Amino acid sequence: MKCVSVSVSVLLWVLWSQTHGVHIRLQNQNCSDGVDAAVLADLSAVIHRVDRRFLSVTIDASLASEEKFMYLLSSPKIRTLAGALSPAFLRFGGTRQDFMVFVPRRPGPGSGEAAEPSCAELDLPSWLEEKLKADWTQQKLILLREDLQRKYRRVKFTESTVDLLHSFSSCSGMDLIFGLNALLRTADNTWNSSNARSLLQYCESKQYRMSWELGNEPNSYEKKAGIRVDGYQLGQDFTRLREMMSESKLYRDAGLFGPDVGQPRDHRVDILEGVFIDQLTGSVMILICCVHVLSSASYYVNGRDTSLEDFLDPEVLDTLALKTGEVLEVKMSSAGAAGVSGEAGVARRDEWLDKLGLAARLGLDVVMRQVFIGSGSYHLVDDNLDPLPDYWLSVLYKRLVGPEVLKVEASPSVARSKRVRLYLHCANRNRYGSGAVTLMAMNLSKKPARISIHALVSSGTVEAFVLESEQPGEDGLYSRSVRLNGVVLKMLDDKTLPDLNGLRLPPSEHLQLPAYSLAFFVLTDARAAGCE
Ligand SMILES: *[C@@H]1O[C@H](CO)[C@@H](O)[C@H](O)[C@H]1NC(C)=O
Ligand SMILES: *[C@@H]1O[C@H](CO)[C@@H](O)[C@H](O)[C@H]1NC(C)=O
Ligand SMILES: *[C@@H]1O[C@H](CO)[C@@H](O)[C@H](O)[C@H]1NC(C)=O
Repeated sequence: MKCVSVSVSVLLWVLWSQTHGVHIRLQNQNCSDGVDAAVLADLSAVIHRVDRRFLSVTIDASLASEEKFMYLLSSPKIRTLAGALSPAFLRFGGTRQDFMVFVPRRPGPGSGEAAEPSCAELDLPSWLEEKLKADWTQQKLILLREDLQRKYRRVKFTESTVDLLHSFSSCSGMDLIFGLNALLRTADNTWNSSNARSLLQYCESKQYRMSWELGNEPNSYEKKAGIRVDGYQLGQDFTRLREMMSESKLYRDAGLFGPDVGQPRDHRVDILEGVFIDQLTGSVMILICCVHVLSSASYYVNGRDTSLEDFLDPEVLDTLALKTGEVLEVKMSSAGAAGVSGEAGVARRDEWLDKLGLAARLGLDVVMRQVFIGSGSYHLVDDNLDPLPDYWLSVLYKRLVGPEVLKVEASPSVARSKRVRLYLHCANRNRYGSGAVTLMAMNLSKKPARISIHALVSSGTVEAFVLESEQPGEDGLYSRSVRLNGVVLKMLDDKTLPDLNGLRLPPSEHLQLPAYSLAFFVLTDARAAGCE
């Protein structure tokens, strides 16, 4: 049963079902006799509704390792890029949050301040931006050395860091989560909250709306700082912070995230599973955090899916008593990417979309990409503040994908191959009418795939957004640039993104899904009951 034709076609058609409304049926046609490996989608019911800020980002706290670098956040380019990702959470945190101490320039709550500059007035002059970018390249080496030696300096920050972060997030339409230092301990090892108190007071005096997180991966405090803090103690510390917040009018009802307490499950893969408690609602949140570590490239290649699928395994989640408001922090393994591409920091493109799809399907509320900018790996934006392929993927996701997750089931043979992944959501209501759906498809096979649309959908409109790299083959998934429907994506200038238009396909035409490509297909006339 050898295939004669070069391409195997994937047939997508829609059937009416009396009981369940519309079904999309995706068939992997078998070349020999057309026996199908069906993928069924139920368009009648939404299985999960994720947070509207589902795709969120982190700025690594290392950016504040010298306060001047925070001014990069006033770059017009980075603000434009961030604005296109709203609505989202902007988490400011990471290893160095637990080494940061607020040292205000003006003692006491800041009053009599000059008025905040408006968003438009904040532009960083380009000469200064160039200088900061050059210095940042040097700074990253220093940070890397600290990481390798696990020796972290105490970092002092002033009102400027908070002002710049808050202005960046509010001007970009993002909701700031500020990671507080939980490594400030008293002699009896309880959290010394006095520094956090003065920070909260300052932020309240400025009327900064924001949420808080306490501590970053406290389970690794012993390695990073020689201090051991157990779960019981952290609970006490959270209660302390919650009390402090409840004394504040502004933060009484604000979010409080953490602690992400976990333990490595496997010395090689180093996966952390953490319990995140929202002290306000009492709900337990799960922070599942695949700590990138730096095993060999072969781990990445051979075990590519094991780690992810393993830690997103519904049973694993169930045993962790998954309740409401889950937060998933996804960090990706950087060693593999570096090994294959030779360029650290460029994520494998399919991995990001796959994690977004899986996390939503499992009903996790938020995925925070580590990092938007800052040191670390897997940036959305490079050191020149130019967008990387995952940035464009994220913007498309924001524009096209709605929060309602629909059920797609692949037949075992398709699911097992893992070369083709499919996720289905309602389309984003801000852009598409009711009943429209967005199919996310990845085909990691060598050869092109073909998707045909029949029945209902074929008579309506399909907008295709196909992302491919310029380089052929699997390595192209690591490339630093990406094409949308054949056109390389680039900012037009520092304040303008290119049009990210879909290709309107004429009815009943086959859709091409090239090898190693990712695509969003918006079926505007799917009339999905779950999306009405
Ligand atoms: C292709 O068809 C053959 C013969 O019916 C069947 O045994 C095989 O499982 C099919 N393969 C797929 C991928 O459906
Ligand atoms: C907490 O920290 C502050 C300032 O760093 C210090 O003055 C105070 O003595 C500390 N409190 C305790 C109980 O250690
Ligand atoms: C993805 O494309 C390749 C090449 O055409 C094909 O062999 C493979 O079957 C496709 N995947 C599915 C599920 O059809």
